[in-house]
Amino acid sequence: MRIDVVTIFPEMFEPVLGQSIIKRARNKGRVEIKIHNLRQYTKDKHKKVDDRPYGGGPGMVMMPQPIFDAVRRLKQKSDKLKNKPRIILLSPQGKKLTQKLAKKLSADRHLILICGHYEGVDERVMKHLVTDEVSIGDYVLTGGELPAMVLIDTVVRLLPGVLGRSSSKDVESFEEGLLEYPQYTRPAEINNYKVPEVLLSGNHARINQWRKKQALKVTRKKRPDLLKNV
Ligand code: ADE
Repeated sequence: MRIDVVTIFPEMFEPVLGQSIIKRARNKGRVEIKIHNLRQYTKDKHKKVDDRPYGGGPGMVMMPQPIFDAVRRLKQKSDKLKNKPRIILLSPQGKKLTQKLAKKLSADRHLILICGHYEGVDERVMKHLVTDEVSIGDYVLTGGELPAMVLIDTVVRLLPGVLGRSSSKDVESFEEGLLEYPQYTRPAEINNYKVPEVLLSGNHARINQWRKKQALKVTRKKRPDLLKNV
Protein backbone atom coordinates (compact mmCIF):
# COMPACT_ATOMS: atom_id res chain seq x y z
CA MET A 1 0.00 0.00 0.00
CA ARG A 2 1.03 3.57 -0.61
CA ILE A 3 -0.14 6.43 1.62
CA ASP A 4 0.44 10.09 0.75
CA VAL A 5 -0.35 12.76 3.32
CA VAL A 6 -0.90 16.41 2.40
CA THR A 7 -0.41 18.71 5.38
CA ILE A 8 0.75 22.15 6.47
CA PHE A 9 2.58 20.51 9.43
CA PRO A 10 4.78 17.83 7.86
CA GLU A 11 7.11 17.68 10.88
CA MET A 12 4.35 16.25 13.06
CA PHE A 13 4.35 12.88 11.33
CA GLU A 14 7.79 11.31 11.48
CA PRO A 15 7.99 11.12 15.30
CA VAL A 16 4.83 9.00 15.28
CA LEU A 17 5.11 7.04 12.03
CA GLY A 18 8.81 6.35 12.58
CA GLN A 19 8.16 4.15 15.64
CA SER A 20 7.16 0.67 16.56
CA ILE A 21 4.97 -1.44 14.28
CA ILE A 22 4.44 1.26 11.65
CA LYS A 23 8.19 1.78 11.38
CA ARG A 24 8.68 -1.97 10.93
CA ALA A 25 5.91 -2.18 8.32
CA ARG A 26 7.60 0.61 6.36
CA ASN A 27 11.02 -0.99 6.62
CA LYS A 28 9.59 -4.29 5.45
CA GLY A 29 8.03 -2.57 2.44
CA ARG A 30 4.43 -3.40 3.46
CA VAL A 31 3.56 0.28 3.22
CA GLU A 32 5.18 3.33 1.70
CA ILE A 33 4.23 6.53 3.53
CA LYS A 34 5.14 9.95 2.13
CA ILE A 35 4.42 13.29 3.78
CA HIS A 36 3.94 16.34 1.54
CA ASN A 37 4.03 19.98 2.57
CA LEU A 38 0.97 21.73 1.12
CA ARG A 39 2.85 25.05 1.04
CA GLN A 40 5.09 23.68 -1.68
CA TYR A 41 2.11 23.65 -4.00
CA THR A 42 0.79 27.15 -3.45
CA LYS A 43 1.12 29.67 -6.27
CA ASP A 44 0.65 32.52 -3.82
CA LYS A 45 3.80 34.64 -3.53
CA HIS A 46 3.58 34.66 0.27
CA LYS A 47 3.11 30.87 0.35
CA LYS A 48 -0.41 31.33 1.70
CA VAL A 49 -2.66 28.28 1.79
CA ASP A 50 -5.72 29.93 3.37
CA ASP A 51 -7.90 32.93 2.69
CA ARG A 52 -10.94 34.78 4.03
CA PRO A 53 -14.35 33.24 3.37
CA TYR A 54 -16.52 34.67 0.60
CA GLY A 55 -19.61 36.17 2.19
CA GLY A 56 -17.67 37.20 5.28
CA GLY A 57 -17.60 35.65 8.72
CA PRO A 58 -14.90 34.59 11.13
CA GLY A 59 -11.91 32.37 10.45
CA MET A 60 -10.06 31.32 7.35
CA VAL A 61 -10.72 28.74 4.64
CA MET A 62 -8.16 26.46 3.01
CA MET A 63 -7.64 27.54 -0.61
CA PRO A 64 -8.54 25.01 -3.29
CA GLN A 65 -5.59 25.62 -5.66
CA PRO A 66 -2.74 24.12 -3.58
CA ILE A 67 -4.87 21.09 -2.69
CA PHE A 68 -5.98 20.42 -6.28
CA ASP A 69 -2.39 20.77 -7.50
CA ALA A 70 -0.90 18.56 -4.76
CA VAL A 71 -3.42 15.79 -5.33
CA ARG A 72 -3.09 15.96 -9.13
CA ARG A 73 0.63 15.38 -8.69
CA LEU A 74 0.17 12.49 -6.25
CA LYS A 75 -2.46 10.83 -8.43
CA GLN A 76 0.20 10.31 -11.06
CA LYS A 77 1.70 7.67 -8.75
CA SER A 78 -1.60 5.81 -8.92
CA ASP A 79 -1.82 6.06 -12.68
CA LYS A 80 1.44 4.16 -12.81
CA LEU A 81 -0.05 1.50 -10.54
CA LYS A 82 -3.15 1.48 -12.80
CA ASN A 83 -5.59 2.15 -10.03
CA LYS A 84 -7.59 5.00 -8.61
CA PRO A 85 -6.48 6.36 -5.26
CA ARG A 86 -8.93 6.97 -2.47
CA ILE A 87 -8.75 10.66 -1.61
CA ILE A 88 -9.63 11.16 2.03
CA LEU A 89 -10.24 14.46 3.78
CA LEU A 90 -9.92 14.27 7.56
CA SER A 91 -12.69 16.42 8.99
CA PRO A 92 -15.12 16.34 11.91
CA GLN A 93 -17.95 16.23 9.34
CA GLY A 94 -16.80 12.91 7.90
CA LYS A 95 -17.99 9.37 8.25
CA LYS A 96 -16.87 7.94 11.56
CA LEU A 97 -13.71 5.82 11.51
CA THR A 98 -14.54 2.35 12.79
CA GLN A 99 -12.75 -0.99 12.67
CA LYS A 100 -15.03 -1.88 9.76
CA LEU A 101 -13.99 1.21 7.76
CA ALA A 102 -10.32 0.60 8.61
CA LYS A 103 -10.64 -2.91 7.21
CA LYS A 104 -12.19 -1.59 4.02
CA LEU A 105 -9.44 1.01 3.58
CA SER A 106 -6.74 -1.59 4.22
CA ALA A 107 -7.82 -3.37 1.03
CA ASP A 108 -6.91 -0.32 -1.09
CA ARG A 109 -3.64 0.17 -2.93
CA HIS A 110 -3.26 3.93 -2.56
CA LEU A 111 -4.64 6.42 -0.05
CA ILE A 112 -4.16 10.17 -0.31
CA LEU A 113 -4.95 11.89 3.00
CA ILE A 114 -5.66 15.61 3.18
CA CYS A 115 -5.40 17.24 6.60
CA GLY A 116 -8.01 19.99 6.98
CA HIS A 117 -7.50 23.17 9.00
CA TYR A 118 -8.96 26.53 9.99
CA GLU A 119 -12.71 26.92 9.61
CA GLY A 120 -12.66 24.38 6.85
CA VAL A 121 -11.74 23.62 3.29
CA ASP A 122 -13.16 25.24 0.14
CA GLU A 123 -16.30 23.24 -0.68
CA ARG A 124 -15.15 22.55 -4.26
CA VAL A 125 -12.41 20.31 -2.87
CA MET A 126 -15.03 18.13 -1.16
CA LYS A 127 -17.32 18.18 -4.17
CA HIS A 128 -14.88 17.51 -6.98
CA LEU A 129 -11.79 15.90 -5.50
CA VAL A 130 -12.38 14.08 -2.24
CA THR A 131 -13.81 10.56 -2.43
CA ASP A 132 -14.23 10.02 1.32
CA GLU A 133 -14.54 12.40 4.25
CA VAL A 134 -13.50 10.71 7.52
CA SER A 135 -13.83 11.79 11.16
CA ILE A 136 -12.15 10.02 14.06
CA GLY A 137 -14.93 10.94 16.48
CA ASP A 138 -17.44 13.52 17.56
CA TYR A 139 -15.03 16.12 18.89
CA VAL A 140 -13.11 18.91 17.21
CA LEU A 141 -9.33 18.89 16.93
CA THR A 142 -7.13 21.76 15.80
CA GLY A 143 -6.41 20.02 12.50
CA GLY A 144 -6.53 16.80 10.55
CA GLU A 145 -2.95 15.70 11.34
CA LEU A 146 -3.65 13.63 14.46
CA PRO A 147 -6.71 12.06 12.79
CA ALA A 148 -4.56 11.17 9.74
CA MET A 149 -2.05 9.44 12.01
CA VAL A 150 -4.84 7.57 13.79
CA LEU A 151 -6.21 6.41 10.45
CA ILE A 152 -2.77 5.34 9.21
CA ASP A 153 -2.07 3.41 12.41
CA THR A 154 -5.33 1.52 12.36
CA VAL A 155 -5.08 0.70 8.63
CA VAL A 156 -1.40 -0.26 8.48
CA ARG A 157 -1.61 -2.79 11.31
CA LEU A 158 -4.23 -4.63 9.25
CA LEU A 159 -2.00 -5.02 6.19
CA PRO A 160 -0.80 -8.55 5.50
CA GLY A 161 2.43 -9.44 7.27
CA VAL A 162 2.47 -6.38 9.55
CA LEU A 163 1.46 -7.96 12.84
CA GLY A 164 3.73 -10.81 13.87
CA ARG A 165 1.16 -13.42 14.70
CA SER A 166 -1.81 -13.06 12.39
CA SER A 167 -3.99 -14.53 15.12
CA SER A 168 -3.62 -11.59 17.48
CA LYS A 169 -5.65 -9.24 15.31
CA ASP A 170 -8.41 -11.76 14.77
CA VAL A 171 -9.33 -12.31 18.38
CA GLU A 172 -9.09 -8.75 19.60
CA SER A 173 -11.61 -6.06 20.40
CA PHE A 174 -14.30 -5.30 17.84
CA GLU A 175 -13.41 -8.07 15.42
CA GLU A 176 -16.32 -10.13 16.66
CA GLY A 177 -18.24 -7.17 17.98
CA LEU A 178 -17.07 -7.87 21.54
CA LEU A 179 -14.35 -6.43 23.74
CA GLU A 180 -11.36 -8.57 24.63
CA TYR A 181 -11.40 -11.03 27.50
CA PRO A 182 -9.09 -10.25 30.46
CA GLN A 183 -5.43 -11.22 30.03
CA TYR A 184 -2.91 -12.18 32.70
CA THR A 185 0.80 -12.88 32.75
CA ARG A 186 3.30 -13.99 35.36
CA PRO A 187 3.41 -14.06 38.32
CA ALA A 188 0.40 -16.21 39.19
CA GLU A 189 0.00 -14.18 42.37
CA ILE A 190 0.93 -10.60 43.26
CA ASN A 191 -0.04 -8.73 46.45
CA ASN A 192 -2.39 -11.63 47.13
CA TYR A 193 -4.16 -11.08 43.78
CA LYS A 194 -4.44 -14.39 41.96
CA VAL A 195 -4.76 -15.27 38.30
CA PRO A 196 -8.08 -17.10 37.66
CA GLU A 197 -7.49 -20.79 38.28
CA VAL A 198 -8.90 -21.90 34.92
CA LEU A 199 -6.06 -20.17 33.04
CA LEU A 200 -3.50 -22.31 34.88
CA SER A 201 -5.44 -25.52 34.23
CA GLY A 202 -4.01 -26.29 30.80
CA ASN A 203 -7.54 -27.31 29.72
CA HIS A 204 -7.96 -25.38 26.47
CA ALA A 205 -11.63 -26.16 26.02
CA ARG A 206 -12.38 -24.77 29.46
CA ILE A 207 -10.12 -21.78 28.86
CA ASN A 208 -11.85 -20.90 25.59
CA GLN A 209 -15.24 -21.22 27.20
CA TRP A 210 -14.15 -18.98 30.07
CA ARG A 211 -12.76 -16.38 27.68
CA LYS A 212 -15.94 -16.24 25.61
CA LYS A 213 -18.01 -15.74 28.74
CA GLN A 214 -15.65 -13.05 30.01
CA ALA A 215 -15.70 -11.21 26.68
CA LEU A 216 -19.49 -11.02 26.91
CA LYS A 217 -19.37 -9.94 30.54
CA VAL A 218 -16.78 -7.22 29.91
CA THR A 219 -18.72 -5.93 26.89
CA ARG A 220 -21.99 -5.86 28.82
CA LYS A 221 -20.31 -3.90 31.60
CA LYS A 222 -18.14 -1.45 29.63
CA ARG A 223 -19.77 -1.09 26.21
CA PRO A 224 -23.33 -2.44 26.30
CA ASP A 225 -24.00 -0.49 23.06
CA LEU A 226 -21.82 -2.99 21.17
CA LEU A 227 -24.02 -5.96 22.06
CA LYS A 228 -26.80 -4.96 19.73
CA ASN A 229 -24.48 -5.72 16.78
CA VAL A 230 -23.55 -9.21 17.96
N1 ADE B 1 -10.30 17.67 12.22
C1 ADE B 1 -10.72 18.27 13.33
N2 ADE B 1 -11.42 17.44 14.12
C2 ADE B 1 -11.43 16.23 13.47
C3 ADE B 1 -11.99 14.96 13.76
N3 ADE B 1 -12.68 14.73 14.87
N4 ADE B 1 -11.80 13.97 12.88
C4 ADE B 1 -11.11 14.19 11.74
N5 ADE B 1 -10.58 15.37 11.42
C5 ADE B 1 -10.73 16.39 12.26
